[in-house]
Amino acid sequence: MAKPKVFATHPLFEEARIILDAGCEVEYWTQPERPPREEILRRVKDKEGLVPLLTDRIDDELLRNAPKLRIVSNVAVGYDNIDVPACTKRGVVATNTPGVLDETTADFAWALLMAVARRVVEGDTYVRSGNWKGWNLDQMCGADVWGKTLGIIGFGRIGRAMARRAAGFKMHVIYTATKQAPSEVEKELSAEYRDLNTLLAESDFVSLHVPLNSDTRGLLNGPKFFRMKPTAFVINTARGPVVDEAGLVHALETGKISGAALDVFEQEPFLHPGLKRANVVMAPHMGSASVETRSKMAAMAAHNVAALFRGQRPPNMLNPDVLKTA
Ligand code: GLV
Repeated sequence: MAKPKVFATHPLFEEARIILDAGCEVEYWTQPERPPREEILRRVKDKEGLVPLLTDRIDDELLRNAPKLRIVSNVAVGYDNIDVPACTKRGVVATNTPGVLDETTADFAWALLMAVARRVVEGDTYVRSGNWKGWNLDQMCGADVWGKTLGIIGFGRIGRAMARRAAGFKMHVIYTATKQAPSEVEKELSAEYRDLNTLLAESDFVSLHVPLNSDTRGLLNGPKFFRMKPTAFVINTARGPVVDEAGLVHALETGKISGAALDVFEQEPFLHPGLKRANVVMAPHMGSASVETRSKMAAMAAHNVAALFRGQRPPNMLNPDVLKTA
């Protein structure tokens, strides 16, 4: 029997390729730059499986163009690039990669938090510039991290992994979420629930860990920055559009907050010019980018595809109803 045809918009990693190649005839996009939209539309026409990255928009136009498609297996936990209801309407399974990147992403959110508070990037630039004349008492003074209040917005797996790490810094942890966490979780993580406005007013560091959807788009905007302490910092490893960048730039320019550390941007890879400031640390959407974790994400996406074509339910379905009637 002919193997199902799959298009992967990236060469993935070896482990994922072994899983996919075992049961499918896979076409991998191997060029270093991301495939243009037209190329994806062209290649997906005769495919039953698609393995996209989070930069690939999977919408109704694409699905219409791929009548044989049975699964879209995102290599990411966030799936704002996929129109899941459109997939469901057309009977296409959509999957993501939850769980494998929580700790790695929390590590990176902490790296950004530390970097912006303690001016790590500024310090590195200064030393490399050759202008450093030696130690001085008032040189490169940043903000303490230990003992401060960490406000976590979004208390899912990654938000909780962020909270867990705060204990070592003797921080006071507060969080907000659509639903208050069970008291055992709050106790284990020494985290207290606050509504969003109270969290913004009390936090020294505000770290975002929500998915991007219609409720969270622009969640931190101009008026919200006004509620924050002028000494506070914002850390975003979630999705760029959760923060209104124009509002953030205004808050930074007018001293409404002290700084920001951003791994994600409103229109990646384009930068709001006002973000190029000494008190902003930026990274190219690399929160989950450890060798181990990216490889696990790709393997998980491959497992989702392989399961479906073996006649099993993919483990990480975003639209489980699609297979209910099958
Ligand atoms: C990364 O941003 C992801 O959603 O996995």
